[in-house]
Amino acid sequence: MSITYDQNTGQIHLFNDQISYIMQVQTSGLLLHSYFGKRIVLLSGPLPYPVRDSGDFSPRPVGYENTRFTLDSALQEIPGGGNGDYRTPCFEVTYADGTKATDLRFVGATIRAGKPKLNKLPATYVKKPEEADTIEVSMCDNFRHLEITLQYTIFKDLPVITRSIIYKNNSNRVMTLGKAYSFAVDLPDDNFELLQLPGAWAREKQIVRTPLVPGDHVLESRRGASSVFQQPFLALVRPSTTEDTGELYASHFVYSGSFRLEVAVDHYHQARLTGGINPVDFSWELKPDTEFQTPEMVTVYTDQGLHGMSKAFYRLYGDHLVRGEYQYRDRPVVFNSWETLTFNFNEQRLVSLAAQAKAVGAEVFVVDDGWFGHRDSDSSSLGDWSADRQKLPSGIKSLATKIHALNMGFGLWFEPEMVSPDSELYRAHPDWAIAIPGVSPVQGRHQLVLDFSRADVRTHIMNAMSQIIDAGQLDFIKWDMNRNIASIYSASLPPERQMETLHRYILGLYAFLEELTSKYPNVLFENCSGGGGRFDAGMAYYMPQSWASDDTDAWERTKIQYGTSLLFPPVMIDAHLSESPNQQVGRITDFRTRVAVAGSANLGLMLELDKKTPEELSKIKAVVEAYKKKRHMIQFGNFYRLISPFTSDYGAWEFVDETRRHVLVYLVQALNQPSKPLLTIKLTGLIPGAHYRVANRVWYGAELMQYGLYLNEELDHDFASIDLAIDCVD
Ligand code: DGJ
Repeated sequence: MSITYDQNTGQIHLFNDQISYIMQVQTSGLLLHSYFGKRIVLLSGPLPYPVRDSGDFSPRPVGYENTRFTLDSALQEIPGGGNGDYRTPCFEVTYADGTKATDLRFVGATIRAGKPKLNKLPATYVKKPEEADTIEVSMCDNFRHLEITLQYTIFKDLPVITRSIIYKNNSNRVMTLGKAYSFAVDLPDDNFELLQLPGAWAREKQIVRTPLVPGDHVLESRRGASSVFQQPFLALVRPSTTEDTGELYASHFVYSGSFRLEVAVDHYHQARLTGGINPVDFSWELKPDTEFQTPEMVTVYTDQGLHGMSKAFYRLYGDHLVRGEYQYRDRPVVFNSWETLTFNFNEQRLVSLAAQAKAVGAEVFVVDDGWFGHRDSDSSSLGDWSADRQKLPSGIKSLATKIHALNMGFGLWFEPEMVSPDSELYRAHPDWAIAIPGVSPVQGRHQLVLDFSRADVRTHIMNAMSQIIDAGQLDFIKWDMNRNIASIYSASLPPERQMETLHRYILGLYAFLEELTSKYPNVLFENCSGGGGRFDAGMAYYMPQSWASDDTDAWERTKIQYGTSLLFPPVMIDAHLSESPNQQVGRITDFRTRVAVAGSANLGLMLELDKKTPEELSKIKAVVEAYKKKRHMIQFGNFYRLISPFTSDYGAWEFVDETRRHVLVYLVQALNQPSKPLLTIKLTGLIPGAHYRVANRVWYGAELMQYGLYLNEELDHDFASIDLAIDCVD
């Protein structure tokens, strides 16, 4: 068992070979945080944290009246408000008398092998109880009868602690949760930089690292979706931390709705990390004897730099979050119709494009937007999930039969959460869209959001989708979501509970996805939201791969995929080889560079195959063939970032297979330049004493990792990009 609770000293210790997480139950019942970091093997007893306050501005908690102790500077596990701690609280409850102050004291702790499922929420899981241990620490306010259970799980061989909190009303009057975060970690110093992944449409997950200064730092989405603008993630990184070395704490929220992550640096330069569901536009009525469980927060500690962090996330998500048939299966090369055809196609055009896609090696043909209702632009038909009879007079079944006859998988695009005002569905059920009664609904991309918190709405969409999936015997579904919620209102809730809508929407979405993915276990689901607008760990529980961005330009994608790779391995990222000039930015990029970038994740194609010469087609075919030979290593091998495109004009990365004998190195540059400065790439992950061939010379692995690879004429002069296959020759 890797969790101990010593009832004599009050010390609780979660540990594995890599990390220790230690908390302290005071004799008064207060629960203090002692330590989170590298494993402490020998512990002599409780870890006392110095009392910092000497003035009277911060009141003492009950039981500490004549001491200097105050919660305002103590490290805590579940900081609340109204008890002398004026820093960011982890929760806020309004009691029936309108007041908020809460005084939580320890009740007990239960340790068990394994990891319990979260209530109706996606979360990391174990297949066998020996893979993790869990402790549930119960805290109670005896006057308010609020009970809070803190769930912590430590995985056996990962530097990760997962947290969820259950808020329970044991009183006989209603309480209202105004804020119900999933975790708090109090760190004793602020000598960190803040690393985050902000972005925008077509520019997702950009790496930004800034010094941490005193005050409150808030990263959030208020949109009802995690969004393109910010990933529910942050890391506190020591200033000296690099890709390979150094300490950091990284938290990632397993949730797809509005979130907030906060770092508060206090008056003693301590850093408090908190986060969970965004309290903006959130409240939750806790009736007597009911409880509310928060989504899960994953926190990694490593002293092995950003690579150590990514490795932990890859293993956690690869082995303990992604589920289903495709978890460990090589992902097919998909041809997607969007950039080639947009809304302009008919059955004949699709079938002939599919035949061309098959000829160059694509394994699945996906018809993107435009196949349903009368959808000739983005202004109609969402919600009418049956074939557009103008374009597809014989329906989906006929098209699917023809695609399947080519010996290809067949897939379709859906945007199930949406409805167009110009649709049969909206005309029949205008009240199913999220809109305030009597107020004109707010539109985005000419569409409204269906109230997925409602079971009747979900049932209708499930039935409509199922009919199509069954008719087309679909192998692949692209699930898109192109606008955020506004004018929040749900017809299923009374006025005082309207602000439950956003979270209930996400719970409804998760319920839908659970049902759909269980009903169709053989379908490969691609998560998309106008690109990476909901590419988060919550969605990854249901859909094993995500469309990272609507930007398919190779240089832009170099950055987007580099940023995405902090959290998600290449097998969870979809990237398509597209035309040049690029549709989003107009940049002209050579074929080899576009292949290098798209071929560094799950390769797909979005090409105008009918306009290609036979030579061009055979080049594409050769690329797809080559990708298939190395895809297992790309999708499931070891991935290393080598040179960051956020701090240089280059992006470089590397794949190493499980045997460490086969290596792929890619380098892309923003713009080619004359008289380039000398560039060296130091490889990583090789066997130091093994021999590897690079061009005409054989090197030791140690040399390639330390001396590095000088990119000179011998390798490739005036390169726009470099792709090297390096193999061990021993
Ligand atoms: C946004 C997606 O990100 C695109 O790939 C495409 O599917 C369009 N929607 C279709 O409307």
